[in-house]
Amino acid sequence: MKGIILAGGNGTRLFPITKTVSKQLLCIYDKPMVYYPLSTLLMSGIRDILIISTPEDLPNYIKLLGSGKHIGINISFLEQKKPEGLAQAFLIAEDFIGNDNVCMILGDNIFHGNGLSNLLKRIIRKTDDEKKATVFGYYVNQPNRYGVLGFNKKTNRVNSIEEKPIKPKSNYAVVGLYFYPNSVINIAKNIKLSDRGEFEITSVNNHYLSNNRLNVEILGKGYTWLDTGTPDSLLEASNFIQAIEKRQGLKVSCIEEICFKKGYISKKEVYDLSLSLSNSEYGKYLLNISKK
Ligand code: TTP
Repeated sequence: MKGIILAGGNGTRLFPITKTVSKQLLCIYDKPMVYYPLSTLLMSGIRDILIISTPEDLPNYIKLLGSGKHIGINISFLEQKKPEGLAQAFLIAEDFIGNDNVCMILGDNIFHGNGLSNLLKRIIRKTDDEKKATVFGYYVNQPNRYGVLGFNKKTNRVNSIEEKPIKPKSNYAVVGLYFYPNSVINIAKNIKLSDRGEFEITSVNNHYLSNNRLNVEILGKGYTWLDTGTPDSLLEASNFIQAIEKRQGLKVSCIEEICFKKGYISKKEVYDLSLSLSNSEYGKYLLNISKK
């Protein structure tokens, strides 16, 4: 399974902040936003990862993450020339995906919760075995900003997905984490531009739904899903991460720690990485890990 982090877009809801800085490089408490979706992929065992961003912003992602070799993974980078929709990622990534299945996560989505990595590992196996796509629903107060699930009243099965509906059929939003079999490349190639001029991921998902090839998982109360596209949600996410980290004394989404625990890098490598982060709290945390 390959992984894609989609980290382009205009970030207009965060103007003027994102006039000069890529949204997914903004800080969520003590680390860049992109560390969170990257960690989600890493925790599910994916270590071949493509980052897609704008031509202007891509150099900064390369500066931040390099080839990934220092943490024992492969990271590659490709441009999306214009933000023409999430489904365009599969066309940009065609060669990268090759004959594999693929997981795509949005660069401004944060997932947290006990059991998340096991859930994602199960979905990876399911995608491999059944060649079905999987999306996740999450109960939110204001679903109309997202793709929204509709349910058959008798069977409770999902029977529709509507993009940013004026009258949402439920409170279940489709989150920015998607698993697809390799067929997604061809499906994305045949998607038509929507009325708002984007290649919609909802069109891709509806294709799988109408062919009975869509698995929908509900992320229950034990999970937190945050998207960080507005000033309020940016601050809320930072406060959330700060609260957990202070309480537990552990870092959330520390990519070096995850890779160390997975056995991709040694204690000595963690030590060397800690030095490169100087005397920041993040660097000290890595130093501690390397000394345990
Ligand atoms: P959005 O939050 O829908 O769009 P945006 O980031 O451009 O922000 P705004 O609405 O404030 O203008 O995008 C969701 C995620 O997908 C985000 O991480 C950016 C990314 N994205 C792309 O990389 N390419 C695209 O073509 C689009 C539409 C989004």
